[in-house]
Amino acid sequence: MQSPVADRRPQSFDRVLSSMCTEPHPAAREAAERFLATNPGDPATYETVAELEREVVADLARLAEHPAVDDAEGAPTERVTDDTDTVESAYGYVTSGGTEANIQAVRAAREQTDANDPNVVVPASAHFSFQKAAAVLDVELREVPTHPVDGNPEQAGRVDLDALTAAVDEETAAVVAVAGSTEYGRVDPVPAVADAAQTVDAAVHVDAAWGGFALPFTDHDWSFADAPVDTITIDPHKLGQAAVPAGGLLAREPATLDSLAVDTPYLETHAQATLTGTRSGAGVASARAAFDALYPDGYRAAHERATELAAWLDTELRQRGYEVRPRDLPIVAVALPESLLAALREAGWKLSPTAAGEARVVCMPHVDRSALEAFLTDLDRLR
Ligand SMILES: Cc1ncc(COP(=O)(O)O)c(C=O)c1O
Repeated sequence: MQSPVADRRPQSFDRVLSSMCTEPHPAAREAAERFLATNPGDPATYETVAELEREVVADLARLAEHPAVDDAEGAPTERVTDDTDTVESAYGYVTSGGTEANIQAVRAAREQTDANDPNVVVPASAHFSFQKAAAVLDVELREVPTHPVDGNPEQAGRVDLDALTAAVDEETAAVVAVAGSTEYGRVDPVPAVADAAQTVDAAVHVDAAWGGFALPFTDHDWSFADAPVDTITIDPHKLGQAAVPAGGLLAREPATLDSLAVDTPYLETHAQATLTGTRSGAGVASARAAFDALYPDGYRAAHERATELAAWLDTELRQRGYEVRPRDLPIVAVALPESLLAALREAGWKLSPTAAGEARVVCMPHVDRSALEAFLTDLDRLR
């Protein structure tokens, strides 16, 4: 018989090296618990959490340099819908995660295109959520190659722009750029991707699900201000240090959210743009609390710490003779023999491989120098 739930504990984060989620910030944990019994899917009933959600959208809009952000006071991301008193955000919402945000970005592009047989062009580095989007929305997914990760370090792992340009056509509804790839932490050249999209009048979506809370502290071009980007995915439940589930979808234009809205006759509000119905207010409240506690200095410090840690691990691994892949954001992908990767997993390290087989160490806030020293000790023992 299973032991009672009350006696069970979740995993410790000590040996979790490949997850893109982390321990929530203490303020985020507390806010999540406080707002457990709320549903932002019904904003007229659960008003406080609905207000918090609009604030989270403003927070994310600030990170992504949304044109509606007012420098002094935050983003004027509120509007009154036509047929109710209810104020909702015109520029995005808190999703269940990056998967929902990516599905909705593809859905909005499909709703807004004139194409008869729409396709979406994605780099091979794109997260598998785009495969789900293509399947549920019945759009063609055109995957274009990225440059080889063991090739020219300048381009390695980033989308091949020539291939992307060749793949777009009049039926392309959206082109996706990845800003912080899941496997290698690479950032695609977003302005050049947007140029290619504009030749065929396609929407531009940036998947910064993981990278979005680090990129503002780098000099990469990825935001609404850097290129004619239409939609962006940014997840508070990853580097934002919020509790799961808290993802984010942002749109440059209110029309994008409108294209997603359906009528909701039995609620007090009359339209809903989200994919899910009842949603977690815990994720929303925790995202707001984490942002309040950490923006901007805490997020900047977390990014700088992770960058230094990744550089240190990179050096340690190279000194042992292993090849480490180029990165833009702190994910250390290292080519380890398959048997060694298996032995490390056997020793309790939660380490997942890339499709090509490298081990990925994602330098999340819970990963520190002492954990990585213990990891290297095991690696030296087992190799
Ligand atoms: C770049 C990117 N996009 C989307 C996702 C999907 O996010 P979620 O697992 O929150 O649905 C991930 C998850 O790791 C990701 O790394």
